[in-house]
Amino acid sequence: MTIPFSTPPAVAWASGFFSHGPLRCKSTTIADLAGVFASSDAWQKEDPARIVYQVEMLDSLQGEGELYVGVTHLYPGHIGHEFFMTRGHFHARREQGEVYFGLRGEGMLLLQTEQGQARLEKVQPGSVHIISAYTAHRLINTGQTTLSALAVWPAIAGHDYQALKHGFALRLFAKDGGVAVNEVRYG
Ligand code: F6R
Ligand code: MN
Repeated sequence: MTIPFSTPPAVAWASGFFSHGPLRCKSTTIADLAGVFASSDAWQKEDPARIVYQVEMLDSLQGEGELYVGVTHLYPGHIGHEFFMTRGHFHARREQGEVYFGLRGEGMLLLQTEQGQARLEKVQPGSVHIISAYTAHRLINTGQTTLSALAVWPAIAGHDYQALKHGFALRLFAKDGGVAVNEVRYG
């Protein structure tokens, strides 16, 4: 009997780069993030082609019960004083959770319930973040270097970006060499 044997892709924990594929890659630029940052004037002054973050994910099986694995590389930078961040989303299938693992850099994971309650978890190398069902999530790079985080999520989860098109309840700004957390009031 021949026993099937293969070497699966490896992830370099220090950088978040996959050894080999098949991989799917997606870059998100300043232009893609219209309306995401607090200052549209500051956003307009930026180079629209500048990449804010890249996601590299294994091209794995789709469907009920399958899992996706991907790494987000969020570059350091600001729009005005607001730190670079991912767009952020709920899962289309709200009952599906996710796990993030911090690999390099430093930042925050912004979590928000459907009722609008927001909280922050510090992301750093080795940090483990359990994103519960019904919880929106966004990465924010508060450091000077690339923030990379590995994520594992159900293939059926999907993404709902529309539900948060008016933004999250917290925004993070650089202030006096540190981080200022501002509560956002709508209406
Ligand atoms: C998957 C997931 C991450 C994000 C990635 C980019 O469910 O949470 O892989 O998709 O960090 O963020 P978004 O999708 O908000 O642009
Ligand atoms: Mn997600």
